[in-house]
Amino acid sequence: MAAPPAPGFVALGDLEEAASRVVPAEAWLYVQSGAVGEDSMRANRDAFRRRTLRPRVLADVSTIDLTTTLLDARVSAPVFVCPMARQGLFHPDGELATARAVRRAGLLGTYSTLSTRSPEEIASAAPDGLRWFQIYLQPEFSRTQELVERAEKAGYAALVLTVDAPLLGVRDRLAATPFILDPEHALGAGEGVRAPARAPAGGRGRYTLRAEAAATWTVLDDLQSITRLPVVVKGILTGEDARRAVAHGARGVCVSNHGGRQLDAAEAALDRLPEVVRAVGSDVEVYFDSGVRRASDALVALAMGARAVGLGRPVLWALAVGGEAGVDRLLSLFASELAATMALTGRRRIGEIDRTLLGEPRW
Ligand SMILES: Cc1cc2nc3c(=O)[nH]c(=O)nc-3n(C[C@H](O)[C@H](O)[C@H](O)COP(=O)(O)O)c2cc1C
Repeated sequence: MAAPPAPGFVALGDLEEAASRVVPAEAWLYVQSGAVGEDSMRANRDAFRRRTLRPRVLADVSTIDLTTTLLDARVSAPVFVCPMARQGLFHPDGELATARAVRRAGLLGTYSTLSTRSPEEIASAAPDGLRWFQIYLQPEFSRTQELVERAEKAGYAALVLTVDAPLLGVRDRLAATPFILDPEHALGAGEGVRAPARAPAGGRGRYTLRAEAAATWTVLDDLQSITRLPVVVKGILTGEDARRAVAHGARGVCVSNHGGRQLDAAEAALDRLPEVVRAVGSDVEVYFDSGVRRASDALVALAMGARAVGLGRPVLWALAVGGEAGVDRLLSLFASELAATMALTGRRRIGEIDRTLLGEPRW
């Protein structure tokens, strides 16, 4: 058997640059773009750069244990792969490569309604892997129900309801590139499956909002009436909404501003995490994504009360650079950097990470 192509990066810090050399221009715009002027996307990174860690020493860090549980399932580290649409744009194997690498790493993978591959194909790529299915509400609830039933049957362990996209955020950088949602980039889940409403490309016309934009909190009750799977709500940025999610039965909430792709005036997701943790942190698991690039970012979010952090764009970069082997390398570099950073802060187990690990902000 031929050796897998060597991924073209040796450190996490090389990855974005390596990907920029191989991803076709339009797909690059798609992954890199954020909402409007991209302030919230930049803010996500700035928020991490401001944070510092407060290390303890001489703590016998000869063994580091990264394992934890997510909704009672054991994982090798408090890290998951975010749901991201259309991974076939970045590698022909798309989500199948991601799912295999995530399984090999012993992590949780979450897969989008808008995946290039069907939920069933993704499941059979890594049958014994831990996976959650991300739901975009469909204009008719019966269509949403079909997706839920398929996910349940295919062995997804939870549903992730994304609530920050009643429509797709305005993305200036994508305005002139209609390609992404062309029919040739068909969705694996089937022809009837719809993405959130988007503005017509090229600056013509306005959004036409559809029925799913009318959803309110009762949609969580509706979802739970048709499934036995736990529901996680993704895209929460306030304590009020986190409490409502819990009141409507959510088993977890994900603090996220969608990688700065939706509301451009949103605060950095990290700056919203403490409020959500204060509001619900002892009732449900609180996950975090948006701007995580290095292991120290993960430690900051965990210290602020997150149960696990999601990797977004870096996974697509790694997929483009090296397919399955690229995602393998990303996940193993991230885990080893996490273990090293924990050792340097005197923390041996995930349970030892708490607010006392946070130092003063840099500015
Ligand atoms: C190309 C791309 C596609 C995405 N597709 C989805 C999606 O289908 N559903 C969803 O809930 N979030 C989606 N997201 C948002 C991610 O789940 C996650 O919130 C975000 O990427 C985290 O920010 P980061 O990539 O800067 O770390 C997408 C993000 C990107 C970059």
